[in-house]
Parts: sequence; C-alpha cells; structure tokens
Amino acid sequence: MPKSKLTTGSFPHVRMRRNRTDSWVRRMVAENTLTTNDLIWPLFVIEGIGVHDPIESMPGVDRLSVDLIVEAAVQARDLGIPAIAVFPNTNPDVKTPCAKEALNTNNLVCTAVRAIKEKLGNEIGVICDVALDPYNSDGHDGLVDDGEILNDETVEMLCKQSVVQAQAGCDIIAPSDMMDGRIRAIREALDAAGFQNVKILSYAAKYASAFYGPFRDAVGSGGALKGDKRTYQMNPANTDESLREVAGDIAEGADMVMVKPGLAYLDIVRRIKEEFVMPTFAYQVSGEYAMIQAAVQNGWLDGDAVMMESLMAFKRAGADGILTYFAPRAAKILNEK
Ligand code: PBG
Repeated sequence: MPKSKLTTGSFPHVRMRRNRTDSWVRRMVAENTLTTNDLIWPLFVIEGIGVHDPIESMPGVDRLSVDLIVEAAVQARDLGIPAIAVFPNTNPDVKTPCAKEALNTNNLVCTAVRAIKEKLGNEIGVICDVALDPYNSDGHDGLVDDGEILNDETVEMLCKQSVVQAQAGCDIIAPSDMMDGRIRAIREALDAAGFQNVKILSYAAKYASAFYGPFRDAVGSGGALKGDKRTYQMNPANTDESLREVAGDIAEGADMVMVKPGLAYLDIVRRIKEEFVMPTFAYQVSGEYAMIQAAVQNGWLDGDAVMMESLMAFKRAGADGILTYFAPRAAKILNEK
C-alpha cells in the first residue's frame, strides 16, 4: 500500500525537480551524509621490511610489511579515518591443523598491532579479526576434525586468540568465525584477563559468500581451503535468520555488529539497524572492491564516482560505518570538499 497520506499535492503545483536545481539546494535537502568517520580501512600485513606486495585480484591494494603498515596507519590517522583492521598473510610454513600460530604473541598481527600502537597510541583504533583461517592449514575459520568444523573446541582457541591480540594492543576484537556462543566466551575471557574496555565487533550476520575470493588470495587462505564454509556461515537465501544471529550476539555482549558482504546485503543492514538500534557496520568486501576496480580498469565506470555512490548506499541503508578498501581514497575526496 502506498503511503498516500504523505503526498501533499500533485503536478503541476508539485515539481520534484525544484529541490534539485542547484548544488546548494541539493545539499540542503540531502538525507544522508558520508564522512571520514564512517570509514574503516582493512590492511594486509606480510613478513619482511619495506615490502609492498600487490594483490592481483585487488588492484590498488598491497600486502604491506610491518614498517609500511605503520606508515599506512599514520596516513589513516592523518586522513581522519577512525580505525583500521589488520589481517595477516601468514607464511604457509607455520600453518598447521591446530592453527597454533594464532596464539603466538609474536605472530604477524600482534607484531603489527604493537608497532602501530607504539607509534600512534590512542590516535587510531585497531581492529583484529578473530578466526583461525589465516593460521589453519585447512583454510577454515575453525578446527577441523574429519571434515567437521568443531564448534566448542574452536571457541576455546578464539578466546585465547582474543586475549593474545588484546595484549598486543588491539582495541576491537572482531570475531568473524561464525561459531556459536563465541561472543559470550570471548567477553568472559577478555574480562578475566583485565580487558574490560576492549570492544567486541561481532561479524554477526556473515554469509557464505563467493565475494570473499580476492580476500582469500590476499591472506593466502584460498588455496588451502578444503570444501566451503556453508556449515558455519549463513545461507544467502536467509534474512530472518540474521535477526536471530544478531539478537544472540547482542545478548552475549557484542558492542557493535556487522553485516557482510555489503552491497548485495543492504536489506539485511536495514532490517538489523531498525530492529536493534545498535552500532551497525557493513563490510564492502574484497569481491565488491574487485568488481568495481575491474570495470574501472576497463574504462567502463568512473571509479571515484562509483566508489562514493556505493559508500553512500551503505549510509542510506542505515550503516554506521563501512569497512572498505577504498577508505583512504574516499577520505581524500571527502577531505577536499
Ligand atoms: C575470515 C574473513 C574473511 C573475510 C574477513 N574475515 C573471509 C572468509 O570468511 O572466508 C572477508 C573479507 C573480504 O572479502 O574482504 N574469517
């Protein structure tokens, strides 16, 4: 049913184009705004010094060694980006079925976080993913036993991984694993270790998506992955189920929630924001970035315009912020305005 009571008149008295005649009036009646405060920049860290390692399926994104990650963090701070998310490209030699590298206090992520925090302190927020896929020789987010992804055993590992990352200086723990019950367990583990102020951003509604392909290249988990993630990540056919996932994570202690992927799931962002009025984030994932960049490289799309339009779409859907590989480029444009 149309909400006809909202209509106050009709053509020719009403001319919708009147409010679009000039830039000043378009800005005056704009319903949504995008600012640098809405951007979270995901970064990939790799071993070495002075290393820029291009990711083929993500044109314009490099894996960076720790020294250059620190520079990127400084750039983010200078651009007014409030937080970065750090993902490791772990040396395949240290990947094992028990993913024990996840608990190494000197692993790549922890080393990077310590270096960033040493340089910038609280001038930028640092987010760390919690999941075993960068460390697991099977490429799965959890421990695997005879093809089954173990839930409770994985959660125990995730709690330890969270504490290790918090000790390194991580501000926001972001469980992306989709195991059941992990938010409560991680909250309790963080609190018991004295990290009451470390926040939890739950990847609450994370779908089993083909849009993660380039990310798996970036962290080097794709080749290792045996099977798929459909026994733990959500079925793209579902929307009611995302509300149950989010309700559960909020009850268990999540401070913020996330929907992932982004553009193809904006209906989920809208439903979750309306239902729970929680800080709600969305991840414009690697495959979305790759699609836009591929078209731009072919000269088929105007890159900056499509980037800004896609980011505004997240705001319109109700997102409080967007994890996006475009963060620095978008921030530059926003700062020039
Ligand atoms: C790993 C993780 C993934 C992403 C973020 N954390 C991939 C996956 O679940 O396979 C995807 C991000 C992206 O595609 O940009 N738990």
